[in-house]
Amino acid sequence: MKVVLGVSGGIAAYKAPELVRRLRDAGADVRVILTPNAARFVSPLSLSAVSNHGVILDQWGDSQQGGVDHIALARWAEALLIAPATANVLAKLASGIADDALTTYALAHRGALLIAPAMNTFMLQHATVQANVATLRARGADIIEPESGMLACGEEGAGRMPDVPVLVERLKAHFAAHDLEGQSILVTAGPTREPIDPVRYISNRSSGRMGYAVAEAAQRRGATVTLVSGPTSLPAPAGVTVKRVTTAAEMREAVLEALPSHGIVIKAAAVADFAPARIADRKIKKTESDEMTITLKKNPDILAEIGAADPRPFIVAFAAETNAVEMHAREKLARKNADLIVANDVSDASIGFDSEQNEVTVIARDGSATKIARAAKITVANRILDLVVSRLAQK
Ligand code: CTP
Repeated sequence: MKVVLGVSGGIAAYKAPELVRRLRDAGADVRVILTPNAARFVSPLSLSAVSNHGVILDQWGDSQQGGVDHIALARWAEALLIAPATANVLAKLASGIADDALTTYALAHRGALLIAPAMNTFMLQHATVQANVATLRARGADIIEPESGMLACGEEGAGRMPDVPVLVERLKAHFAAHDLEGQSILVTAGPTREPIDPVRYISNRSSGRMGYAVAEAAQRRGATVTLVSGPTSLPAPAGVTVKRVTTAAEMREAVLEALPSHGIVIKAAAVADFAPARIADRKIKKTESDEMTITLKKNPDILAEIGAADPRPFIVAFAAETNAVEMHAREKLARKNADLIVANDVSDASIGFDSEQNEVTVIARDGSATKIARAAKITVANRILDLVVSRLAQK
């Protein structure tokens, strides 16, 4: 992997040396371009040490740090990763301004372009920034969405650059073998929401991130992907057909409709097992009584239905458990007639529901169990797909 890393002047630039190291661990040859502002946040010397090459600081050949022939670099590079990308750099990229080494190079670059915007939430939400991101995405750039969390300015919100492993995984995906080419994969994700009355519902804590990561990874590996998603706040992964649903009944309908054209089903959704037996058509009012009862009825088990279908697709089930994780997962694998089951322990708050990371055990029909160590959900998604690929090869 021949990679140019462009670093612009945001606080997340401090992650650049670690990013270079991890890219090199992943087998990449890395050349670094710093904008003048980035050089205030991170030392060119440390980047040159970790990349084992001179760092490019300006576009003039007589620079002390060594100038650059950006056309020769463009012939060499297979990918340009700009991380972090400030609002200023996004604007320049979107409009073709080339007034420093990075933006000049970006115009000459011909390979894959990956951009990780990172900035304060207010700036990120600005209509101009959003329009620039949309322009770049429409031109084919792979936008690595910023995450929510504590920002350098002390505020909490979207704008944080994802951790280094997420960036590395994303870059690797551009070089990954298209080992799912020709496969059609149906993925479900997110919670379902079961209405009680027009303003209330029963749901669960699933964020949808794991299923979205699986859909995104599968698409990048060449699969045609349909994602049936319960209510989430996540953007649709590029190149994936997304069908949005609310209730388990709607999810069942969407899944069964899509099923005949998909050979693989990956059911990451956290489907509500029960729904209110009756949905009040008006808002339920408080009564004199201190208690109230909602009668629930069982929802259809979508997965069990797919497992009983003939012909049956290749099925990957998920099992979110709080205790005796592996035992429950093995029982579910058999009950649902699945090929693989991905089990995770949701009693651990640092993984599973609504977290950025996951740690799972994948159990196969032959009883074998594979542990996937704690990692970003996109990494875990790729490891799960590795297992799918190797099982399909055995069939
Ligand atoms: N599932 C489904 N339809 C349901 C319930 C679950 O398709 N009505 C799927 C989930 O998408 C997941 C798997 O079945 O892939 C396991 O879900 P889980 O809720 O853990 O299992 P349950 O069958 O609900 O078993 P239990 O309530 O005993 O945990």
